[in-house]
Amino acid sequence: MPTIDNPTEKTLAELGILDALAIEDLFASQAARFDLQISSKTPDETNYVMMKNAWLGRKSGVLTLIADNWLKPASPTQKPAVGQSLNKLKRHIEEGLEHFRIAGEKTSKESARESLDLSLPGVMRPIGSHHLVRQVFQEIEDIFVSIGFSVVEGPEIETPYYNFEALNIPEFHPVRDDMDTFYLDLPKGAPTPLLLRTHTSPMQIRTMEKQKPPVRVIVPGKVYRRDNPDATHSFIFHQVEGLAVDSDITFCDFTGTIEYFVKQFFGPGVKTRFRPSYFPFTEPSVEFDVSCIFCGGSGTAAGGGTCSKCKGAGWIELFGAGMVDPAVYGFVNYDAKKVSGFAFGMGIDRLAMLKYQIDDIQVFFQNDVRFLKQFP
Ligand code: FA5
Repeated sequence: MPTIDNPTEKTLAELGILDALAIEDLFASQAARFDLQISSKTPDETNYVMMKNAWLGRKSGVLTLIADNWLKPASPTQKPAVGQSLNKLKRHIEEGLEHFRIAGEKTSKESARESLDLSLPGVMRPIGSHHLVRQVFQEIEDIFVSIGFSVVEGPEIETPYYNFEALNIPEFHPVRDDMDTFYLDLPKGAPTPLLLRTHTSPMQIRTMEKQKPPVRVIVPGKVYRRDNPDATHSFIFHQVEGLAVDSDITFCDFTGTIEYFVKQFFGPGVKTRFRPSYFPFTEPSVEFDVSCIFCGGSGTAAGGGTCSKCKGAGWIELFGAGMVDPAVYGFVNYDAKKVSGFAFGMGIDRLAMLKYQIDDIQVFFQNDVRFLKQFP
């Protein structure tokens, strides 16, 4: 329904417009309406498109309505005047829109220029670095690679066979109690139980299964135990396993290799010692100690009193090791009469703590940038 508010939807006859003067006034009122609308809008792309559609839009723009409702049904005497006025209005609108567009472009350029201050310093994005544990892995790998070892990695989810049995730890062996483990919840009928490996030693078996002697590998990786967290224990920690098997490897090769590694890692000043120990997969087995890095092996703290790190002993336990137990060769089809070798398993977090004088293992797992930044 045409309305009074919208004269463009009525014909001139319906509006009662008869003479040329009235026609001119009618068009002038439309030009004024356009001017009022456009002057109330902020010149920008969105308003420009909106105004252009409203006035010049082909289907229902104001000019189309005028052409349809005023021009087309006009009497032959009115038509020239209506036609001329329509052209004049069209030019007026086109010019108005063009000014509006240019003004919009200018403001957007100005505001972009204002917000872009080339004299400001750039955005500095902090660059990450390797975690200290990763850095220590790298140091250890470099030392062993330089004496002929290669680096292999293995699965963190293991079967009891590789984690225990093939390492000469049968079911119900008391050693399993120390490694009270995380087993996976598996569907009924799963072919074998699975657990998060408690040490990197399963890779001794996997490596020997794949490869005939000579074998010289180290295995860096994560391991999991149900240990309560404290300053030196975590339920996730890191180990590097080492294994060397050949036809004529002796206990001297073993001690020489370990001492070489420790002196490269901690520096030549450090003293070392072996103590008898027990692991089901090495025979003989040893614990390897270094002289306390904190008190220089004296057992006395710098300010006097007992050194809290070695508890006055002057020695710190580093890792377990030994000559591979011949029983293990039986699981991988090696001839125990023809081959011999040694193995070791180091706790990397504790090595890193000693070398970099960190007194709480938990900081490795807390992701605190204040700590991480100290080891760029
Ligand atoms: C083992 O895991 C043996 N597989 C090592 C081995 C390999 C012996 C080859 C002989 C031949 P052990 O349970 O002692 O051994 O652990 C080795 C090292 O892991 C320890 O010396 C210690 O540095 C580290 N470690 C053990 N438990 C934790 C823990 N909860 N948090 C952090 N480090 C740990």
